[in-house]
Amino acid sequence: MSKRFTIITYGCQMNRYDSETITGYLTAEGYEPGDDPEGADLILLNTCSIRDRAEQKVFSQLGRLRKLKKKNPNLKIGVCGCFATREGERIAKRNGDVDLIFGTQNISKLPEMLRGIEAGRVCDTETVEPDFSELAPIRRSCGPSAYVSIARGCDNFCSFCVVPYTRGPEWSKPSALIVEEIEAAVREGFREIHLLGQNVNSYGKKTEGEPTFGGLLRRLDEAQGLERIRFMTSNPQDCGEDMIGAMAECKKVCEHLHLPVQSGSDEVLRRMERGYTAEEYLAKMALYRERVPGGAITSDIIVGFPGETDADFEDTLRVLKESRYDNIYLFKYSPRPGTPADGMAGQVADEAKDERFRAVQQLQREISEELHRGLEGSVVEVMVEGPLREKAGNSPGGGESGGGLLQISAPRRYMGRSRANHRVHFHFEGPPPQIGEMVEVEVLRGSVSNLGGVALPQGAVLEERAT
Ligand code: SAH
Ligand code: SF4
Ligand code: F3S
Repeated sequence: MSKRFTIITYGCQMNRYDSETITGYLTAEGYEPGDDPEGADLILLNTCSIRDRAEQKVFSQLGRLRKLKKKNPNLKIGVCGCFATREGERIAKRNGDVDLIFGTQNISKLPEMLRGIEAGRVCDTETVEPDFSELAPIRRSCGPSAYVSIARGCDNFCSFCVVPYTRGPEWSKPSALIVEEIEAAVREGFREIHLLGQNVNSYGKKTEGEPTFGGLLRRLDEAQGLERIRFMTSNPQDCGEDMIGAMAECKKVCEHLHLPVQSGSDEVLRRMERGYTAEEYLAKMALYRERVPGGAITSDIIVGFPGETDADFEDTLRVLKESRYDNIYLFKYSPRPGTPADGMAGQVADEAKDERFRAVQQLQREISEELHRGLEGSVVEVMVEGPLREKAGNSPGGGESGGGLLQISAPRRYMGRSRANHRVHFHFEGPPPQIGEMVEVEVLRGSVSNLGGVALPQGAVLEERAT
């Protein structure tokens, strides 16, 4: 009987992509995927290290797995991902029953490591050059969007961030291999590609013979059978005419730019070593808005970076008001041992971080709601993700009211994403739409977190446009 495995994934899309690659290697070795940790022969935790909370979650999960291993001594436990890369030894010391520890750069050695754990613990967190000679095996989760990593690592060393230590130096994947991977995903039925990298728009900068990021987008825009291209994350330092021009011209590239600002204070940005000022950032956004009218912008913000004064924080609120983001990911600064910001003077008290967090959250909710209400009456193209699962009591047409248990809502309610990456809940008459199908939805209601509406009869929009 073949062995069964379960992967528990924490962190960002890059980790999810890695879990799909790990699944590819394991299935090639004869393992079978399963969701139930109770019945698994191998459980892997693909970990994140970005904030302290992410690391604590791993230790509590390992505590739970220890009990499972007591019941089933043949169970093998593995820890991989960013936290394993950074703290492999600490994990090994604290958890005698972990059988396998490997880093973000050692995934391709899995077949060898699996044989090794039959004899005893295996630990490999070495920094190695990536092998880009051929496609790694990958078993993607169901669609409609396929992750494709275009670069590994990060050379930016922002003073708060662990990623350069957990994912190593930046390497661009050869564009020929990216094209090959996308063609394979399209053959599998994926119609949207989500390009991944810590800094996608520095693609090719240090690799001779490769296009720039803008050049890569133009090349991928020609891929047959592909309908949408998204990417994440763009760094403001490398955002300019090259990428924005390509975003404006390429039909398949979606009208959404995730451009994390982190702070609105020049002094904080300097100490974060982000490489831009607030004004430079705002100028880049203005260029995007001019070239891609109606495009959505989202951002990441950190509150409570060491030394952040009330005046610095006011600057962040000012940039938020000026930027009018569609949405943001908001974080309280979390000191990361070994990073320059950890040792900086002026660590901000938790209460001040909480207060600033709430203020940003409140302001952003107002902006998101206003922007989404402004879309009422418009028609958006939605890629179907499946039937809507929502909280009982949610009002028709979207909205956030209600609460309680998750349930499949009334038949004919579905969800999907617009090109600008809005989450759209919609009513659909007729035979259920397929995952990955494109439907035109008239927006009836915009709320903080989504748009609600009704699918137009297929072809209706085209007819209207033709007259
Ligand atoms: N490469 C991306 C971000 C990767 S990490 C970029 O440069 O924008 C995702 C987000 O986590 C960051 O944008 C930042 O907002 C947040 N983050 C990173 N380190 C953090 C820390 N120590 N404390 C709080 N938030 C952090
Ligand atoms: Fe971290 Fe900065 Fe690299 Fe983003 S660009 S991963 S924030 S070091
Ligand atoms: Fe992602 Fe967390 Fe690593 S955010 S890159 S999994 S530290």
